[in-house]
Amino acid sequence: MKPILQKILILICLTSSGFFMSYGQNKPDDLLKPDFHAGRREALRAAMPDNSVAVFFANPVRNRSNDVDFLYHQDPDLYYLTGYKEPHAVLLIFKENQQDPTGNLYNELFFVQEKNPMAEMWTGIRLGIEGVQQTLKIQNAYNGSAFKNYQINFGSFDEVMFYDFKNDVRDNIRDEADLYSLIEQFKSKVNYKNISNGLTPEPQKNNLDFTTLNSIMNDLRGIKTPEEIDLIRKAVFISAIGQVEVMKAMKPGLSEAEIQGIHEFVFKKYGSEYEGYPSIVGAGYNGCILHYQENAKPEINSEEMVLMDLGAEYHGYTADVTRTIPVDGKFSPEEKAIYDLVYKAQEEAIQQCKPGTPFGQLTSIAKNIINQGLADLGIIKSPSDRHLYFPHGLSHHLGLDVHDKGNYDRLETGMVITIEPGIYIPKGSDCDPKWWNIAVRIEDDILITEDGFENLSAFAPRKSEEIEKTMAQPSPLDRFVLPDIKGNK
Ligand code: GLY
Ligand code: MN
Repeated sequence: MKPILQKILILICLTSSGFFMSYGQNKPDDLLKPDFHAGRREALRAAMPDNSVAVFFANPVRNRSNDVDFLYHQDPDLYYLTGYKEPHAVLLIFKENQQDPTGNLYNELFFVQEKNPMAEMWTGIRLGIEGVQQTLKIQNAYNGSAFKNYQINFGSFDEVMFYDFKNDVRDNIRDEADLYSLIEQFKSKVNYKNISNGLTPEPQKNNLDFTTLNSIMNDLRGIKTPEEIDLIRKAVFISAIGQVEVMKAMKPGLSEAEIQGIHEFVFKKYGSEYEGYPSIVGAGYNGCILHYQENAKPEINSEEMVLMDLGAEYHGYTADVTRTIPVDGKFSPEEKAIYDLVYKAQEEAIQQCKPGTPFGQLTSIAKNIINQGLADLGIIKSPSDRHLYFPHGLSHHLGLDVHDKGNYDRLETGMVITIEPGIYIPKGSDCDPKWWNIAVRIEDDILITEDGFENLSAFAPRKSEEIEKTMAQPSPLDRFVLPDIKGNK
């Protein structure tokens, strides 16, 4: 059969067998609704300066190797404002109504990926214009190919707000509507001159603004709506359940990757799509590597602790929960001393979480407790000694990004933040070797409420005694035995 006939036949079969399902089938019922995204666009519009336009591009597709790309992940701002999950798109939000040549008024334009049955057969359904209008309820939707000739007089705005380009988008599709082309067309429309490259900018109309949008989006995304809090709550709860299951299943001889797998199985069981960031499972010294991602140790041993920084992403929103547990289910005296010190620092900081508390105050509380404790244990000489045993920040916003957008002045109702002190003592540190390779981080996800806080990850025990009790419980995985493949050819 000729290839073209074969393709047509496959298409007819797939179409008639219902392969191209209508939108809405097989979708979870707790996704963000179009009203949420419309509300976020309205909130953005309200915060924009007069006579301005904000421009957002989709995230680029990244190649993994040969004809395989990395799993696509939408730019969180674009997702927040639209719910659109496909690449090759640009969104324009106007402060005031604009008029097209036929007299129609609009205050937003969305240029999206065109439908393409052959491409959809391989990589899944594209919404296209109709899908965007019907499913996302964004009426002013166009194919990306229409952007080039769409008449927008960018020179007429006081501010054209966008994120400066990182020049990391490849022209790998060679069509006029891929992200690369949309960006090039935009640059030409606004007379953009490689400012961020360090090349001398040519004189241009000074209405291009690379900073205001970030500050507006920090304000918006840093305070979560009730719909967002519902999703974060789920992401965090299922991540905490995963931690509990790992505690029960933990035993010497497991691999770091296996522990990661147990956690991921649990969160996927609850409908979480991905990990919100690469899972961190580090035993012994590996726990001292703050963003350890290899998870490659084949067999953890009974003298070690395992640091597990794991977050499920649920419908776009990620958790970020860390627990550190002894492999054999019992903290040694040194492990317990460090663990309880980190716990104390975390607990004191959490108790101060309420609207109005400065972020800096939380950090000082935790740092002071840790410095005093390290001095009391003889690990440093004096609480004022400079050291690298707690080398990272205490807290960050959590949401669509694991390090989410938000302001770091004072806590406000509706913020969701982490509280995550840690102590890391790698082998060779300038202290008694009995402390070497002890690494502890405890991280919880905290919702700031009107009168204080709610610990969303409280389901996963944090106190050393409670961890030991949980670890003593049986796990269904105790009975999960796979064939031994050692020695198989
Ligand atoms: N979960 C990794 C981090 O917060 O940096
Ligand atoms: Mn974190």
